Amino acid sequence: MRREKNVRGAGAVCLAITCAIVAWPAPAGAQDQPTYARDVAPIIQGNCQVCHQPGSIAPMSLMTYEAVKRYAPRIREKVTARLMPPWHIDRSVGIQEFKNDMALTDEELETLVAWLDSDMPLGDEADMPPPAVFPDPSAWQFEETFGRPPDLIVPSEPYTLAAKTQDKWFTPTVPTGLTEERWVKAIEIRPSWPDGPKIVHHALAFLIQQEDYDEMSAETASLASSSRAMGGAGLFMEWAVGKVGEIFPDGAGKLMLPGSRIRWEVHYHAIGREVKDSYVELGIWLYPEGYVPQNRTRLRMFNATGDGLDIPPGRVAVTQDTYTLRWPARLENFQPHMHMRGKAMSMSAIYPDGQKELLSQVTNFQWNWHVNYIYEDHAAPLLPAGTTLVFTAWHDNTPENPNNPDHTQWVGWGDRTVDEMAHAWVDVTYLTDEQYAAAVAEREARAAEQNENREGTNR
Ligand code: HEC
Repeated sequence: MRREKNVRGAGAVCLAITCAIVAWPAPAGAQDQPTYARDVAPIIQGNCQVCHQPGSIAPMSLMTYEAVKRYAPRIREKVTARLMPPWHIDRSVGIQEFKNDMALTDEELETLVAWLDSDMPLGDEADMPPPAVFPDPSAWQFEETFGRPPDLIVPSEPYTLAAKTQDKWFTPTVPTGLTEERWVKAIEIRPSWPDGPKIVHHALAFLIQQEDYDEMSAETASLASSSRAMGGAGLFMEWAVGKVGEIFPDGAGKLMLPGSRIRWEVHYHAIGREVKDSYVELGIWLYPEGYVPQNRTRLRMFNATGDGLDIPPGRVAVTQDTYTLRWPARLENFQPHMHMRGKAMSMSAIYPDGQKELLSQVTNFQWNWHVNYIYEDHAAPLLPAGTTLVFTAWHDNTPENPNNPDHTQWVGWGDRTVDEMAHAWVDVTYLTDEQYAAAVAEREARAAEQNENREGTNR
């Protein structure tokens, strides 16, 4: 941080000339104090305003100096606990390279907190960055990435949710309208704007199509049914607050067949006023006609419920499941799913030679944020056949869990948010042995090149 650097600078001066002239430690002069205009506004613009603006999903707007000052104590609390921005993966373990990383850097956090702990000066208004321009929150977010609207849009049917009612599950089946075989490059999924995100707890979209027998699909299906939960070969996409969608790496994607249909499973919960004709829709970007990617990506649900969820009142419960990969695979993402007692979930690999690696862990799970952590292509776990994946879930049913509605209740598996679940959604791209060997060689070459560059700069 700026101030720290100056302090160190003062020390260096102190050694070089005489300590009588330069005070140690140097008091932070007005020049070194972070100001809103110069130091804080860019952080708030770049990391908060996309959601904290009128009409977006957050409860209050952080568009002005005055607003940020007004909410200072709450902002301090949320950013230091790393609850805001909503990026709850453990930054001290596992893979840290993600396509959609939302976290503040350590430096940004330090600057923001230093400012919040000071008398929060505005500073020189001339330093203020121009207002940030945001994509329309009601528009398709991937439209900018691809330079065109989705090639195919598949909405669920409209549903009207009463002001007060128990949770509802709505399961309409709708045609995709596709008349030829096509491969999918990206899928965005979103509830209707602006009330949809407030009442949709989560939504699943299953792709129903007639497919010839395929060993990998069969395995995906049998795994899903043996772990007695939804999922399976046909699961196309899942949505919960915090998720935009998925973009598959070049050369990988999902297959859609003519005449296919989407079976929706939308979990609604009421917000105290009626919401009319709400729906969820899929925006699908396709690979060019006739293009067949080398690999097919499958969304898989990995349970971490072990022998079943049995969460006694006042206790922390740990459950675990393991899965051994029959083919080499690349894992594209990690998205834990639990409810109000969810505390943490990890995904580890035990390689065929016995070595273990913690791939990712969410240590501070927040049940109202189902963030999908999407690995950078060069960082996505690349696993040989015979690797065992270990999923571990922790549920905290003690009074220390601030999200716990009642720590005197026994809790078991169930659909309602007061019941529990424990699984991770992971997009798995199976590779042939040759593709796996080539991918490993590419990673090794990349690592060697980076080492060389590092040595080069050290010399
Ligand atoms: C992806 C959208 C998103 C981003 C990015 C985001 N927030 Fe939030 N924020 C929300 C939502 C939604 C809530 C309300 C639900 C919750 O608390 O989880 C919230 C809640 C909060 C609260 C608590 C409000 C209260 O009622 O007490 C604070 C404070 C906050 N955010 C600050 C920030 C700051 C500061 C940043 C940037 C450093 C930020 N948020 C980034 C969406 C976001």
